[in-house]
Order: sequence, then C-alpha cells, then structure tokens
Amino acid sequence: MISILKEYPQMFVTSLISVSLALALPASSPTLKKLPDGPTVIAHRGASGYLPEHTLEAYAMAHAMNAHYIEPDLVLTKDGELVALHDRTLDTTTNVKEIYPTRAREDGRYYAIDFTVTELKKLEVTERFRLETGELYFKNRFPKNFKVGQTIPTLREIIHFVRGLNISSGKVTGIYAELKNPSWHAEQGGRIERTFLEILNSENVKPEDGLFIIQCFEHETLRKLRNEYQTKLPLVQLIGDNLEVYGWMTKPEGLKDIATYADGVGPTYDLIIDKETGGVLDENLFVKTAHELGLKVHPYTLRSDSLPKWASSFDQLVQKLFVEVGVDGAFTDQTDKLIQSLRQLKKL
Ligand code: G3P
Ligand code: CA
Repeated sequence: MISILKEYPQMFVTSLISVSLALALPASSPTLKKLPDGPTVIAHRGASGYLPEHTLEAYAMAHAMNAHYIEPDLVLTKDGELVALHDRTLDTTTNVKEIYPTRAREDGRYYAIDFTVTELKKLEVTERFRLETGELYFKNRFPKNFKVGQTIPTLREIIHFVRGLNISSGKVTGIYAELKNPSWHAEQGGRIERTFLEILNSENVKPEDGLFIIQCFEHETLRKLRNEYQTKLPLVQLIGDNLEVYGWMTKPEGLKDIATYADGVGPTYDLIIDKETGGVLDENLFVKTAHELGLKVHPYTLRSDSLPKWASSFDQLVQKLFVEVGVDGAFTDQTDKLIQSLRQLKKL
C-alpha cells in the first residue's frame, strides 16, 4: 500500500469524485496540511526518464509505476489557464518554431504566456533538446524525431486524468504541482497563485482529498498562499543551489522561518551531500533541523542516467539519501528504479 493511502486513508475513499476547495478557509486544522510520513516517490515531470516530460503519456507511465505523486510544473497561458511546462518558453520541448515561426519575442524565444490553450494544443511535445544544437539534453532518452502526437496538458486535464486513473486502478496517486516563476508571471500581468486556486476550486478539489501538494521556489508565493489565501493544502519550499538567493533557507534560522508557512522543503540534493566526495554536509544539520521543526525533506532530482560524480550506481544515491541522510521522499525521473531501490532497502 503506498504511503499516501496510509496517510490519508478515508480522504480518498470519500472525496476522489466530489470535492471542493474554498479559497479562504481558515487554516485551522493542521492535519489537512500534513505531508505523508513514509518514503514518498515523486515522479518528476512524469516518467520523464522514458517519455517526453509533462505529457499525459509520461504521467500515465508514472502512475502505472506506482509513483505516490506526479509532478506537473505549471505556467500561465494567454487566456488565463495553467499548462504543464517546465520552462516559460516552448522552444526546447516543442515544435513551436515550425508551427508559429513569427511568434517569437525580440529575444528570439517563444513564451507560453503569448499563446492560448487552443494554440498550444497545436504543438507537439518532444524530448527536451538543446536550443543551440537541437541535440537531446539526455542523449539516451525518447528520440526527438519520433513524433507520436504528444501535446501540452492543461492543469484541468491533469486533474481529470489522475482522478480517472485513480478510479480505474484503485490507486491514490496525488499531484505535486510546482508554480513556476510567480514574480515573472506578475510582471507579465498574470497572477499564477490566484489562477491556480481558482482552477482547483472550479474543479472541486478540496484539501481533505490529500490529492494536492504545492511547491514553489519563491517564498513570497508560499507565504501568500498560506497567509493571504489561507490554503490548507500542504506547501513545500523549494531550495535551489544559488546560495545568494537561497542561502538563508539552508540555515537553522531560515528553516525556522520556512516552518511558519510551509510543511516541507525541497532542496537540490547538492545542498545535503558534497558534490565531489558524497560526504554528508555539516553533519546533516539541514535535515536534522528541518525534522526537528516538523518539515519533511524531499530533495530533487534523482536520475539514474545522470548520477553525481561520487555515486557509482543509482542504488548508492538512494541509499545515501534515504538511509544515511534520512530524507522523507524525493523527486525522480525514474520512478520504477527509485521504488525498486527503496524496496531493496526495506523502506517500502
Ligand atoms: O520541483 C522540484 C524540482 O522539479 C525543481 O526543479 O527545475 O526540475 O522544476 P525543476
Ligand atoms: Ca519542478
């Protein structure tokens, strides 16, 4: 039985179909904001090690592999919807240049927010490639030239899709959504937080479902979601490797501040383990402090085809993080391999 079911047993029984989210519910019940206890496997951009990221096909594969959560990154469209894309731009994961050759901005890039959903649906999603050369970013992944009609999903479609798969499979997979670049979206005239909550509301998602976790790199967004919108959904503060921006979040005082509005942290694992040697940094102060404060720790991104220098196998990386460091979950491009490793370690 997967961990989210242990954590939210009756929520899923009662609420997969009939659900609602009030935007301004008082944040009175801490149980509604709780993240799962057990090792949590988060399918980073879907089963992105095997199929082009952020496609329904990649999400279906991750669901079939028993991911506990599927991770869509979300950006705004011109007509105020949210779609699953990692980048604000479209030109390294789609054929936008071919379909809309005149729609680039002055910088030569094609931005999702300049297109309606109907227009975006005309694009074909491919494996991620390098803008300069057109080469695959991960060279042994799904071939870029194999066009199989994959399109950009909307958040609404993802909600319906995961609900449908949960009903047809009897599983209780959740959605661990990342709001991308809220301050940039605001500069463009959009309010991604508000739009996100409105979509959840209109799709009858309610916090008691345990279906959603929200993550973001921008702490102002998470504070707004918790304090202004008073969402009861669990919030996760992502922490990047740029210490000029995120350094304060890695300190005990910073974590203490994060614990006032978030329920977990999602650091790059390079902040926990020395990139060169694989040694656990600062006697594991970051993870120990987070746990003392009640924050779950979900590092990103475990990739079996892009191991850190110090690891000779994916299993070694998993062992280091889940046994030596004691993280609570992780984002991975290879859900099947993470589950297999965790089973070998008797963690699942
Ligand atoms: O959201 C966790 C991880 O996905 C953050 O990195 O750049 O892959 O969205 P990114
Ligand atoms: Ca992400």
